[in-house]
Amino acid sequence: MRVSWAGAGAGVLLTLLAGAFAWWWMQPRTPQELFKARCSSCHELRIERLCEFEPALRPVIVEVMRREHGADQVVSEAEALVIQHYLKEEFQCP
Ligand code: HEC
Repeated sequence: MRVSWAGAGAGVLLTLLAGAFAWWWMQPRTPQELFKARCSSCHELRIERLCEFEPALRPVIVEVMRREHGADQVVSEAEALVIQHYLKEEFQCP
């Protein structure tokens, strides 16, 4: 019996594709998901605390997290912009 290298290659390729798809599927898709995923990596979401600030001031918190608490390791600059916009314009306090 011959080993089919084409078959093995296709198997490896499929495994890689499945992995890439799983990774892609796990990514936060909306600004809200991004906020929930990134801002809960060091502490819980702190919604009550966020809501003590006016919407216009909430983006500053994201800045402070990145500058003073090392969140720039977790939240990229582009992601920070998305989260800041979300907190200012869309975020609903409970
Ligand atoms: C790298 C870790 C890290 C990440 C990521 C992070 N934080 Fe923080 N956060 C901290 C630390 C450290 C503190 C200060 C100590 C504490 O209160 O636990 C803090 C405190 C806070 C506070 C309380 C501030 C206060 O004055 O009471 C809020 C609100 C907050 N974070 C919101 C956020 C938001 C929104 C994000 C997402 C952009 C975020 N954090 C991401 C580490 C992080």
